[in-house]
Amino acid sequence: MSAPHSFSIFSLILLSLSSCASSIDVPAGYVAAPYYPAPHGGWTSDWTESYRKASLLVSNMTLAEKTNVTAGTGIFMGRCVGNTGSATRVEFPSLCLQDGPLGIRNSDHNTAFPAGITVGATFDKNLMYARGVALGEEFRGKGINIHLGPSVGPLGRRPRGGRNWEGFGSDPVLQAFGGARTIEGIQSVGVIATIKHLIANEQEMYRMYNLAQPGISSNLDDRTLHELYLWPFAEGVRSGVGAVMMAYNAVNGSACSQNSYLINNILKDELGFQGFVMSDWLAQISGVASSLSGLDMSMPGDIHTIPLLGSSYWMYEYSRSILNGSVPVDRLNDAVTRILATWFQLGQDQDYPKPNFDTNTLDAEGPLYPGSLFSPTGIVNEFVDVQGNHADVARDIARDAITLLKNTNGILPLSKTAKLKVFGTDAEKNPDGINSCTDMGCDKGTLGMGWGSGSARYPYLDSPIDALKARGANFTFFNTDSFPSNSNPAASDIALVFVNADSGENYITVENNPGDRTSANLNLWHNGDKLVQDVAAKYTNVIVIVHTVGPILLEAWHDLPAVKSVLFAHLPGQEAGESLMQILFGDVSPSGHLPYTIPTSEDNYPDSLDLIGFELGQPQDTFTEGLYVDYRHFHKANITPRYAFGHGLSYTTFSFTNATITPVTPLTSTPPARPAKGTPPSYPTAIPAAAEAYWPAEAKTYRIWRYLYSWLEKADADAAAADLAAGKKYPYPPGYTTTQKPGPPAGGAQGGNPALFDTAYTVSLRVTNTGNATGRAVAQLYVQFPPGLAVDTPAVQLRDFAKTGPLAPGASQTLQLRLTRKDLSVWDVAAQNWLVPSVAGDYGVWIGEAVDRLGVRCGSATGGCVEKAFSL
Ligand code: NOJ
Repeated sequence: MSAPHSFSIFSLILLSLSSCASSIDVPAGYVAAPYYPAPHGGWTSDWTESYRKASLLVSNMTLAEKTNVTAGTGIFMGRCVGNTGSATRVEFPSLCLQDGPLGIRNSDHNTAFPAGITVGATFDKNLMYARGVALGEEFRGKGINIHLGPSVGPLGRRPRGGRNWEGFGSDPVLQAFGGARTIEGIQSVGVIATIKHLIANEQEMYRMYNLAQPGISSNLDDRTLHELYLWPFAEGVRSGVGAVMMAYNAVNGSACSQNSYLINNILKDELGFQGFVMSDWLAQISGVASSLSGLDMSMPGDIHTIPLLGSSYWMYEYSRSILNGSVPVDRLNDAVTRILATWFQLGQDQDYPKPNFDTNTLDAEGPLYPGSLFSPTGIVNEFVDVQGNHADVARDIARDAITLLKNTNGILPLSKTAKLKVFGTDAEKNPDGINSCTDMGCDKGTLGMGWGSGSARYPYLDSPIDALKARGANFTFFNTDSFPSNSNPAASDIALVFVNADSGENYITVENNPGDRTSANLNLWHNGDKLVQDVAAKYTNVIVIVHTVGPILLEAWHDLPAVKSVLFAHLPGQEAGESLMQILFGDVSPSGHLPYTIPTSEDNYPDSLDLIGFELGQPQDTFTEGLYVDYRHFHKANITPRYAFGHGLSYTTFSFTNATITPVTPLTSTPPARPAKGTPPSYPTAIPAAAEAYWPAEAKTYRIWRYLYSWLEKADADAAAADLAAGKKYPYPPGYTTTQKPGPPAGGAQGGNPALFDTAYTVSLRVTNTGNATGRAVAQLYVQFPPGLAVDTPAVQLRDFAKTGPLAPGASQTLQLRLTRKDLSVWDVAAQNWLVPSVAGDYGVWIGEAVDRLGVRCGSATGGCVEKAFSL
């Protein structure tokens, strides 16, 4: 339920506008129940020392110092995309926050790594971690405190959604491993990771609140929230992520940035999150309400309606709301302690570099505060090369993600001397320059990433054509998306056709697609279907290579006899070329697997997955399909897709044998009781003196126009104190209380009740290479709940996966997989807990190379494993 807004005139205008515009309501039953107060951080033992250090500083900070660190100094008011105020007297610096999930945005001498969706397609936990470490090293090298990634929401519920490619795939467990391993990697070098966007931001259009309209409301039930969309966030919190970014949209009618149900209840109490919560950029729509609802940091600090005027819901307004008693002092102390504790937790108090780049310009010198008309200037870019040897991990990921969908007659791998005809502009770099479009907001040339804040500038782009040249391949290139008349087809030619499909973030529209693929639908861009058809009409051996943000329709050409092979290279980043060559020429066997299902038609999906168009008032997006997205839906509707989730061929074959299942921790239907909360720091709760927020006289002499400050004019600070003395009261929202709660039974540690993560069973499996080429296999483990339950569960659900190393022909490797208590539970809405619905029941534990190639079944009750094909 949305809490009331702050006293600001801007919010009052907004409130009246949005309430008169609200002609469509959230459907009955979709509730974001108020949850107060915001739980204090510092109650898990793994953060105790950082909270202790933080509390020593916080106890010594003035009101204006505290409010200064909870918000950005304004959009374009510093070198990074977000820059917090500092508290230099206690030696707490301004923090630099910077995008994005695949590399440093708007910078130089950085690596443009493969996108999240590509990482997901590797099904390789080691590569997920290694990329995280490399990202962390680069962000640290540029002096960035807070990395704005990984993205695990959107989940990819909606295939046309613009930003699905920033995350790891359309399954919560794949997304969870991708997010958690990335966080662990990033944070291993002391950079604070930010898991985003909480939650259910499944389409780009109408995502933001503005003067005319509230942001779209994602309406989802409690079970769907827990079992799908929250799952990756829980794993990220369990990995100790330092920051969480709230999504732009509303959930069940309440804006995520001030949704007390999501922040206070789900994130801070149930998931035991100890770090700090930030808004997405200009997503904060109130002052007091967002603070009470648990928001800790406002980004980039400005009001959401008209930024750059020097107006904020926090900063000086936060100081005012403390002085007039609207926000309890302990709420501010908690927010500040969370921010400082995270900084200590990641060791950033020890020799952390200062920013040495500028997201606003590539010039060496420029304005220090470009958002101000009158800014001092100075050196802003020092061009520090942070790439190290990260191209290697980037290339390994790009290669090991390549997903071979079809390979008729073993046309791949190619012989070194194959005579190649190459078609499609996607094979070569954008002729206007690899970084010519801001934030990659165009689809020209090789598609290495989608567009928006999740993009990064390329240091170089190794295109497929570059790599063919480097190999000395025998090829002719036709740099066109229309079939050329002069290609002289010969029977021995092999045609490589490069096609793509793009999407991105909503602030840029590319070829009529405003982020989401509204006009492209799930089709290839630039008449790619026609190009493939035309090539297939003239050549008998055609290989189609697809760079894509997500699922596309292949039906227009997939079954043409000439189309022998189809490869998804996903979004490879800078290493598009050589990674592909290693697969095409067979140096390495493909080992990528689809991180989503490929349909035969958009009609395969339920109607609730259509993009939501314009609606008067708040657009309503009701997740009526519940748990049934991607393969869960295809199973339920009994639809055979073109390619199933997890599908991916190799140049060799594998057998899965000698499977065993071993019980570890005995199950009970209800988890063991959670541990009690530890004791967080506490502070005096007296409202500080107004003087703690007065503008210092000397500060006025260097005041930057439109920069956001936390000080108040003396008269304003005194007036706030007078309001308090006069007994004026803030209209607190329903359910508001200041008494801290013990926390729900499902909580107890970072990620939730630690017992949820007890290993219930381990599964071991022997993988043998039964073919003639060296290759890597992926074992995917899916759980089928026991039959006859009162509760409905999807046919099977991915719960774990493991990838072998390169196996020579005949070689074997034993893989270990595991199932936790949570993996075997359902979220019980009434009990508000994870319950095992049948302790004695026989869970089917299915293992295979794709969701439609499950060939080993282990039974939890029978205790044995058999070779058997799964069928619905
Ligand atoms: C908005 C995007 O949604 C978010 O992911 C990004 O981190 C911020 N902008 C900052 O650029």
